[in-house]
Amino acid sequence: MERKSNIDWGSLPFGYSPTDYNIRATFKDGKWGKPEVSDSEYIQVHMAATGLHYGQEAFEGLKAYRGADGKVRLFRWQENAKRMRNSARGILMAEVPEGLFGEMIKEVVKRNAKYIPPYGTGATLYVRPLLFGSGPQVGVKPAEEYTFMVFVTPVGPYFKEGFHPVAVELVHDFDRAAPQGTGRFKVGGNYAAGMQASERAHQGGFASVLFLDAIEKKYIDEAGPANFFGVKNNTYITPKSNTILPSITNMSLIQIARDLGLTTERRRVPVEELETFEEAGACGTAAIISPIKKIVDHDTGRVYEYGEEAGPVSTKLYHQLRGIQEGTVEDVHGWTEVIEGV
Ligand code: PLP
Ligand code: COI
Repeated sequence: MERKSNIDWGSLPFGYSPTDYNIRATFKDGKWGKPEVSDSEYIQVHMAATGLHYGQEAFEGLKAYRGADGKVRLFRWQENAKRMRNSARGILMAEVPEGLFGEMIKEVVKRNAKYIPPYGTGATLYVRPLLFGSGPQVGVKPAEEYTFMVFVTPVGPYFKEGFHPVAVELVHDFDRAAPQGTGRFKVGGNYAAGMQASERAHQGGFASVLFLDAIEKKYIDEAGPANFFGVKNNTYITPKSNTILPSITNMSLIQIARDLGLTTERRRVPVEELETFEEAGACGTAAIISPIKKIVDHDTGRVYEYGEEAGPVSTKLYHQLRGIQEGTVEDVHGWTEVIEGV
């Protein structure tokens, strides 16, 4: 089915809208089959699939960017492929080889080229790979069959504010992940675990929740859908923790910050340090950089404020990162790949 594309790119939210094609592959009898392109938004899944019962599911998130030069670029997709293999190992699923991952994401972007938002609209084509146990089990054990699929959907900014500071809520009474649990993998269960806290924050008027370490409740972990960073004294500081997702955006911002002459630190960030930051932000593929204007502690009511406008360091990092992704800033680290023929 061909769908119409009269999309108002500039006002797209971060949400699902249909495109023409997705792509699927199945792991069966110990090997991956050939990818198949589909025009259906539905999948037929065994009712005893482990992905439905025991949370054998992992996903990824990356974007295809239409550049100022009209070319379409992917950003560090090999890192997403690697993280998905790591997530698969973490919950005993079949790993998707890098070659298959790359082939499938490029094919689905090409097939849906008309949904890639034009340069300058602020929108991008979000690419969502997902992997789950599709084979049946009733006892708790890994499936023998897995499905890997990729769909795309055009999106605007994750936080409706775009590159404008947001308020976030610091919580003590919910944990997203346990220290020896699955926090460092991109598995669906982590998002289910964080959902009550996220929804409460949204209802309270906050763009996101900010989690603390689960044991001591003393250190900043990460936001619901993004990593956290703070800036002070020309230094970019971001939490080191075993329970946060290793963000590809954050890893890239650390390098960009160094390139721009900032000092960078990845270490534990105690809650008290929040009051010393000149700037704070959330970063991720969907969030890009969302500057934080204030953090409100749900338990104590304490408020940490960073101003109504994005700070100079966050602004510089944001433009540098987007410039690399859109081909207007030289890609000195070789992070982008142009998809030919789109
Ligand atoms: N943290 C969480 C919990 C996320 O879901 C994401 C999004 O993928 C991130 C951080 C940011 O990671 P990345 O920059 O690789 O998108
Ligand atoms: C991303 O940034 O790609 C994410 O996956 C975040 C969120 C939508 C879960």
